[in-house]
Amino acid sequence: MTVKIGLVGTGTVGGGCIDILQKHKQDFQRHLGVDVELVRVCSRNPEQAAAHNVADIFTPDYRDIVNDPKIDIVVELIGGTTVARNVVLEALAAGKNVVTANKALMATHGQEVLDTAAAAGKEVAFEASVGGGIPIIDPLKHSLIANEIGTVMGIVNGTTNYMLTRMADNGMGYEDALKEAQANGFAEADPTADVEGFDAAAKIAILASIAFNSRVTLADVYTSGISQISPVDLEAARGMGYVVKLLAIAHRTPKGIDVRVHPTMIPATHQLATVNGVYNAIYVVGDAVGETMFFGAGAGSGPAASAVMGDVLEVARHVQQGVGPLVGCTCTDQLPILPVDE
Ligand code: HSE
Repeated sequence: MTVKIGLVGTGTVGGGCIDILQKHKQDFQRHLGVDVELVRVCSRNPEQAAAHNVADIFTPDYRDIVNDPKIDIVVELIGGTTVARNVVLEALAAGKNVVTANKALMATHGQEVLDTAAAAGKEVAFEASVGGGIPIIDPLKHSLIANEIGTVMGIVNGTTNYMLTRMADNGMGYEDALKEAQANGFAEADPTADVEGFDAAAKIAILASIAFNSRVTLADVYTSGISQISPVDLEAARGMGYVVKLLAIAHRTPKGIDVRVHPTMIPATHQLATVNGVYNAIYVVGDAVGETMFFGAGAGSGPAASAVMGDVLEVARHVQQGVGPLVGCTCTDQLPILPVDE
């Protein structure tokens, strides 16, 4: 059978997905046995659809996708928590599986989304919501599931890591570094989310929820960004053998889960200190596996689209095989989350 895809959003990530589909559709069929077809594309911007040669399947109204009975998977790539929430919830209620890259949605309304999916007997996949192209949600859900996770910590915002790298290595000022990151297309539409740490906070809330079988939301994360950091601070840290990184940290303590985002001085010899530019890295410690680290490009069209399309193909495979959704966490014994001011 051909699994039919509806795509909502044709910006950086949506455009990247269309490109991957156009380039590799035959390979998916020949090598993976997964037959997918993009049948409808919704965008606020018809020119973007035309630029990716999908003007013939364009619609300006997302309801044309969520209400289309032939569509199996809705891919939500518009971001935000208003229209995107409607797209995701309406798609699930209409019996579609959903793939999303939306960290803000999953970090604030994740429980509602997962409950709606469970009630509908459908899947929601969101690998691209954290770490761009880095596989991290799938490893936490599957390969590392036999571990008791002690720590998940990392650099999960490409914009601020790019800025801190340029400020440290080139003495570039904060504003110039931000402009450069924006010009490279890494920053959010409103870069406040990047520089004040909210983007990283959303991502660590998602990772902590999975790693600790818990329900961590954005509001549970102590958050402090890099807007007060100057090249002088970075130079002083370097003189003492340290590197400053915006770290997102989720840690199991005897009292509960401690989740925070803040600029952190780390020894120059630590693996995370060597992660520069737009790259992200997530360091996970489990009781059986020990230390692991996941590294890659944390933002940008290709990396994010790679993660989205990985989810699309996995869900499409389940649709083809008639496999139901994996049951999510049904745990009743959740660890407490420490208050943000503790
Ligand atoms: N603004 C985000 C970042 C994009 O810089 O990491 C990827 O989530």
